[in-house]
Amino acid sequence: MGRADPVRTVGRPAAVHEAAGAYTRTAIVLHWVLVAVIFTQIGLGWYMTDLPLGPVRSPYFALHKSLGLTAALLVAARIAWRLTHPPPPLPSTVPPWQARLAHLNHALLYACMIVMPVAGYLSAEFYKYPTRFWGITLPRWGWENETLNALFSGIHRYTSYLFVALIAIHVAAALLHAWRREGVVSRILRPRRTRG
Ligand code: HEM
Ligand code: HEM
Repeated sequence: MGRADPVRTVGRPAAVHEAAGAYTRTAIVLHWVLVAVIFTQIGLGWYMTDLPLGPVRSPYFALHKSLGLTAALLVAARIAWRLTHPPPPLPSTVPPWQARLAHLNHALLYACMIVMPVAGYLSAEFYKYPTRFWGITLPRWGWENETLNALFSGIHRYTSYLFVALIAIHVAAALLHAWRREGVVSRILRPRRTRG
């Protein structure tokens, strides 16, 4: 763990002092549950689009749509939590330019987490079948339209490439911080002991 912010830690017991530079338990659980869901979604997306046209594809598409809409709900919860619980300041060992790049990477990751399910849902809404959410048919307001379907499918596909690139950079940066023992990775593994 890097040097903690003196303003935030003065007068607190040692255990709290050490854990002050960490995310909350809720932020950590949402981060890792979404990592699992997003990795599954990307794998499933690539796998299912390579399958031959016909009935063999439909269970995979149905699962991808339901899990993708579940991801949208988790992302909404995560953003709501993030807006009310600011992240801890980075350790002072991280240079300001790296902190700025990390901030940009996180902002773009959030943008992809929003665009992916929204574009997927819109693409499905302008296709011939209604969208189902874990077996429940959702009310349909879209109509069959090849142009709109192709537009949102294209956004879904090209955003997924950007998403994978951003995730690769994010993971590489995390591994670099772990190797340098800067205490950045432990922020998203061990929750802070303070409230909030
Ligand atoms: C975090 C959420 C999601 C991720 C990470 C994700 C990822 C992907 C990926 C990587 C592909 C393959 C793209 C390609 O190479 O063509 C794909 C395809 C697809 N996804 Fe998603 N997806 C998500 C959410 C959704 C949602 C919510 C829906 C619909 C309700 C959806 C519907 C589709 C459909 C229909 C395809 C087939 C290709 C197309 O028509 O665009 N996805 N997805
Ligand atoms: C689907 C893949 C992933 C996505 C979308 C993602 C997204 C994010 C976002 C948006 C943040 C910023 C949290 C905030 O301040 O609100 C974050 C933090 C973090 N993530 Fe990930 N993450 C992913 C995978 C991973 C993996 C695999 C690792 C570990 C190798 C990791 C390690 C971290 C660490 C260490 C932080 C804290 C960084 C800091 O304190 O500034 N992430 N992640």
